[in-house]
Amino acid sequence: MCYSVRPYGRPDVTTVKAIISFYQSSIGKKWIVALTGLVLVGFVTGHMIGNLQIFLGQEPLNKYAAFLQGLGELLWVIRGVLFACIGVHIVTTVLLTIQNAGATPQKYAVTQSQAATIAAKTMAISGTIILAFLIFHLLHFTAQTIHPEWQGWHDAEGRHDVYSLVIVGFQNPLATGFYLLGVFLLCMHLSHGIQSFIQTLGVRSRKIAEPLTAASPYLAGLIFLGYASIPVASILGILKPLH
Ligand code: HEM
Repeated sequence: MCYSVRPYGRPDVTTVKAIISFYQSSIGKKWIVALTGLVLVGFVTGHMIGNLQIFLGQEPLNKYAAFLQGLGELLWVIRGVLFACIGVHIVTTVLLTIQNAGATPQKYAVTQSQAATIAAKTMAISGTIILAFLIFHLLHFTAQTIHPEWQGWHDAEGRHDVYSLVIVGFQNPLATGFYLLGVFLLCMHLSHGIQSFIQTLGVRSRKIAEPLTAASPYLAGLIFLGYASIPVASILGILKPLH
């Protein structure tokens, strides 16, 4: 594939055509789904580690949240990349499903027998519920449209009291139930997604592909436990709001 760029910086027509024809192919779409999925796995892991600071107390979590907010324009760049990945991941998956419905399957670089697990069979439904969960989550904790009064909550240092609003948010059993469902489906989706990623990108070394495939449900399980621990600890009163 030719990726040459013209001296004055505009991409060559052949480059654009090559990119379009790559995207039009089924394998090309699988690559795009895999690479955007990888970015999303990175975000989900980082977001979980950041959120787990809630167990260290109000100060570390609010400090971390204030640091993220303080990134200013960079935060918007990160959000732009994140939401672009979510959009491209979803649109490409839908296009791929339509394309595959009437096509003869193309061969992977590395073929591996993959049992059709429940996670594999429910990728579309789990993906749709995760999207609904994400929209609810953004309205709940980021935009705080559901509880506008949270916007006025601050700690002794004058920082936004993210610590207390998360705990109060999870004291509602309906919200907690929806989070647990969303996170469970996310982890099922991830478990199968990691396996598909390995196959799509054709990880040739069996020494890497096999243990990674075998480890994927455990990695997804760890992510589930990390995320689920916060609503569970909040509703059980282990974590207490300070507001
Ligand atoms: C127990 C589980 C979770 C907790 C406690 C939590 C907490 C939070 C909080 C407090 C924010 C707002 C940050 C701020 O604006 O200061 C946030 C934003 C966000 N969360 Fe979560 N989250 C959880 C699970 C998830 C999951 C599973 C996903 C992915 C599917 C996710 C994706 C996001 C996204 C995309 C944002 C917006 C980031 C931004 O634009 O600033 N969260 N989360």
